Amino acid sequence: ANECAIKVGRKYAADKKGSGCYTVITLENSFHGRTLTTLAATGQEHYHELFQPLTPGFVSVPANDIETLKKVAKETNAAAVMIECIQGEGGVLPLDAQFVKDVRTFTEENDIIMIVDEVQTGNGRSGMLYCYQNFGIMPDVVSTAKGLAGGLPLGATLISDKCKDVLGFGDHGSTFGGNPVCCAAAISILKRIDDKLLSEVKEKRAYIEKALEGAPGVEAITGMGLMVGIKTKKPAGEVVAKCMGNGVLCLTAKDKVRLLPALNIPMDVLKKAIETIKDACR
Ligand SMILES: Cc1ncc(COP(=O)(O)O)c(C=O)c1O
Repeated sequence: ANECAIKVGRKYAADKKGSGCYTVITLENSFHGRTLTTLAATGQEHYHELFQPLTPGFVSVPANDIETLKKVAKETNAAAVMIECIQGEGGVLPLDAQFVKDVRTFTEENDIIMIVDEVQTGNGRSGMLYCYQNFGIMPDVVSTAKGLAGGLPLGATLISDKCKDVLGFGDHGSTFGGNPVCCAAAISILKRIDDKLLSEVKEKRAYIEKALEGAPGVEAITGMGLMVGIKTKKPAGEVVAKCMGNGVLCLTAKDKVRLLPALNIPMDVLKKAIETIKDACR
C-alpha cells in the first residue's frame, strides 16, 4: 500500500512539475515498512544499515517541526510528504495536532502530495475509521492494511479526487493483489466498523487509561483508541515477557509496552488482561 502511495506522489509530481521533482519528505522515528523503498521512507537509520543502497529521494525531518519541514521541502523540490499520525513502531507517539494541520496547509499551498500511512492506525484502531480524522484534515493519499481484512493479507491505497487519474492501467498491481477472499473479508470488516464499534473503542480506551494511570510501575499512557503505549518503570521487554508468561500477548515499541487488542475484545477479557499487565508492571 505504501509503495503504491509513494508511486502516486512521485508520478503526480513528475506529470505536473517535471522529472526533477521526486523527493519524499518523511519524519524521523517513522516506520513505513520493509521493502527497499519503504525502508528508505522509514526515518530510522538502524533499519537501513543492512540493505544499502536504498531507493534514493527520501529525506527525514524531525516530527512536530514545521519550519524545518518547509525549509527541506523547498530545498529538495519535494514531491510528497508522508507521515503516520501516530508513530507506532516509533513508540506509540501521536503527532502534535497543530503540526499535522500545518503540514496539510503547507502541502496544499505548494501542490505537494500529502500521504498518510494508516497501515497501523487505520480501520477503527484510533477510535475513528482513519486516524487522520482525529486531526481534522483530508490527505491526498492514504495507505492502509493490517486490520483491514481482519488478519487476512490485504493492503489498500485510497486516492483522492486530485490524484485519481495519476495511475493508469498497468501502472500498479501485483500477482496476489485484490485477492477475492481477502477483499470479501475486508468488506465484512468495513461493514462492522460502525459508530457503535468506534464508540466502544473510545470507551475501552477510557477504561484502560483509568485502570493504568497512577498504577504502580506505570509512568505514562500514550496513543489513541486501542493503540496503547505504556511507559513503564521496568524495562518494557521485561513487562512484555511477564505478560506473555501469564497469557497476555503484547509487544514493545521503543521504550514502551504496546497493546493493540482486537477492537471487539469483550470487556471481561480486557479487564482480565489489564489486571495481568498491572501485575507485570509492579
Ligand atoms: C505505520 C506502518 N506502515 C507500514 C507498515 C508495514 O510494514 P511491512 O512492510 O512489514 O508490512 C507497518 C508495520 O508495522 C507500520 O506500522
